[in-house]
Amino acid sequence: MSQRQLFVTTALPYANGNFHIGHIMEYIQADIWVRFQRMQGHQVDFVGADDTHGAPIMIAAEKAGLTPQQFVANIAAGRKPYLDGFHIQFDNWHSTDAPENHALAQQIYRDLRDIPELEGGSLIERRTIEQFFDPEKNMFLPDRFIKGECPKCHAKDQYGDNCEVCGAVYAPTDLINPFSALSGAKPELKSSEHFFFKLSDPRCVAFLEKWTQDGKLQPEVANKVKEWFSVRTNPDGTTSEGLGDWDISRDAPYFGIEIPDTAIDGAPAKYFYVWLDAPVGYLASLKNLLDKRGESYDAYMANDKLEQYHFIGKDIVTFHTLFWPAMLHFSGRKTPNNVFVHGFLTVNNGEKMSKSRGTGLDPLKYLGLGMNPEWLRYYLATKLNNRNEDVDFNAEDFMLRVNSDLIGKFVNIASRAAGFLTKRFDGQLTQSFGEQGTALLGDIHAAKGSVAQAYDAREYGKATREIMLLADKVNAYVDQHKPWDLAKDAANNEALHQVCSLLINAFAELSRYLAPVLPSLAQAVETFTGTSMQNWHATGYVATIQPYQHLMQRVTPEQLEALFEPPAVVEEKVTPGGEDIAPTISIDDFAKVDLRIAEIVNCEAVEGSVKLLRLTLDVGEGKTRNVFSGVASMYKPEDLVGKLTVMVANLAPRKMKFGVSEGMVLAASHADDKTDAGIYVLHPWPGAKPGMRIH
Ligand code: 2FM
Ligand code: ZN
Repeated sequence: MSQRQLFVTTALPYANGNFHIGHIMEYIQADIWVRFQRMQGHQVDFVGADDTHGAPIMIAAEKAGLTPQQFVANIAAGRKPYLDGFHIQFDNWHSTDAPENHALAQQIYRDLRDIPELEGGSLIERRTIEQFFDPEKNMFLPDRFIKGECPKCHAKDQYGDNCEVCGAVYAPTDLINPFSALSGAKPELKSSEHFFFKLSDPRCVAFLEKWTQDGKLQPEVANKVKEWFSVRTNPDGTTSEGLGDWDISRDAPYFGIEIPDTAIDGAPAKYFYVWLDAPVGYLASLKNLLDKRGESYDAYMANDKLEQYHFIGKDIVTFHTLFWPAMLHFSGRKTPNNVFVHGFLTVNNGEKMSKSRGTGLDPLKYLGLGMNPEWLRYYLATKLNNRNEDVDFNAEDFMLRVNSDLIGKFVNIASRAAGFLTKRFDGQLTQSFGEQGTALLGDIHAAKGSVAQAYDAREYGKATREIMLLADKVNAYVDQHKPWDLAKDAANNEALHQVCSLLINAFAELSRYLAPVLPSLAQAVETFTGTSMQNWHATGYVATIQPYQHLMQRVTPEQLEALFEPPAVVEEKVTPGGEDIAPTISIDDFAKVDLRIAEIVNCEAVEGSVKLLRLTLDVGEGKTRNVFSGVASMYKPEDLVGKLTVMVANLAPRKMKFGVSEGMVLAASHADDKTDAGIYVLHPWPGAKPGMRIH
């Protein structure tokens, strides 16, 4: 076969958190494929990047007190231990905030915008839409940052796009009593000009119908996509015919890429929605890689032999099978040859992954426990096929597959034969294996094609099953010829030499078949046998071996127990606010204290006291009260005038140095003055009126 040129990516992870096991599964899936293709002699460029833009990251950065750039840089700095740890060999890892991505995204947009009339005209359209705006934060609110009461089931505190209680889908404007999740403010409807990619244009529809239904996509994916051409669900839960146009713009402030020619008085006004520039990040990372190598991106892309593949999860199919190919095609670029969709990873029988309950599989914890990354690679390989199905990580199954199959059936072949060869034959192997041995090796060689086919089709479960069946055959041969018995009598030396030499050759070939999954083990086998594991089609026999070194340990139940052990909860004795909670009282005890809303109608400094303020309070009695309060260190009198607060209205009047105090204002402070924590007057929510009692 002639050498193929492959450009391979995995979905770009949001730069708002560390990798979880779902990311690692996708990367391992792609990495196995890439390594396999390289072993075939094909040229592969395998790239990833951080997906850095969008409102959630902007807001998370603000919460962390960082600029979005600092925030995503911190996340990026944490990627390497995961990738190296699981032998995931990207050729480049980049960022969607890199200059290459800004330039490429803007150029793709211009190309779509400026399609000449003769070719059907622009695919970008401007439309004014009404959107919720947070008047305190001064920004338009993404759906996820608007909350309110569900219009269907009236559950409180639901997101702007759908209700987690009854599952209803709606527009944020349908929420009852909406509020901004950022500031709590009541959002206002404001109109804004948005940019749309006209996916409903007949040119796009015709192109996408063909692109998605020409047989390249996995059948279940193609079928799902097909539905979107007939009906779609709108944000408000209604349905419409066919593909809808795609809103690709967001208003400032936004962490993203500026839309060309939209600045107002030099200030950026419109940005690309994160999903417009995210897949462009694939190209940006590739370009960055080629630049580093001194190669031309344009020339690379102009190669009509180039094949482009994206590994993605089932949740982002729309973006990769509609928006992305349409963006590329109509901007005059090459479209992907295929998009490979996988299901989700569940852990221990589909239990929802949750860190706090300790049911998740934390990749760094796995590595930190000294667990072999190739166990996971192998285990996932046994479970992966080319369909869009969920994969379950099951601890017991994992241990079984690794210990009985990988080690018991495969690694043990080498350990059983190597000792005899080293001790009795100085590590030298014979190349005559006897009739049965030669036939067995022939069987192994004969499977090369179908194992390769399975890898190429991403049927790793099938590939590993075939390899293990071959290992079974080898083990049956061992059991039949019993090298340990042969070794007892020097008269059997030749037979022992043949059997053990055959076993090492069989082992080397199986190692080569497993090399895409177990790259580090393959490297050790390369040293052990002196034969290359890089080339799928390598021929020739092992001539000598090095003394055998352990290739792989078994998984222990203790390791798995530790892996899934919930993080220890450290129970510290805490004294909230510096003092223990007071002894329990009954509701009747509480009812003795008459707490009322009071308006501070006047407030003055107290001459001769640095601590006290004199408050004149109205609790709706038709007269005012005089109360002293020790809050002078925190408030100026004018800060308090006109404000509502809470007072104890039935406290016996107390005669103080500066006058009689007719009650007490409620204020919060730390038990220990020296903490400098301050003292804070209580302030009711809007709506409370002087005289209302607190129950
Ligand atoms: O769903 C996600 O995690 C996105 N960050 C994936 C982006 S893939 C590509 F388009 F960048
Ligand atoms: Zn609801």
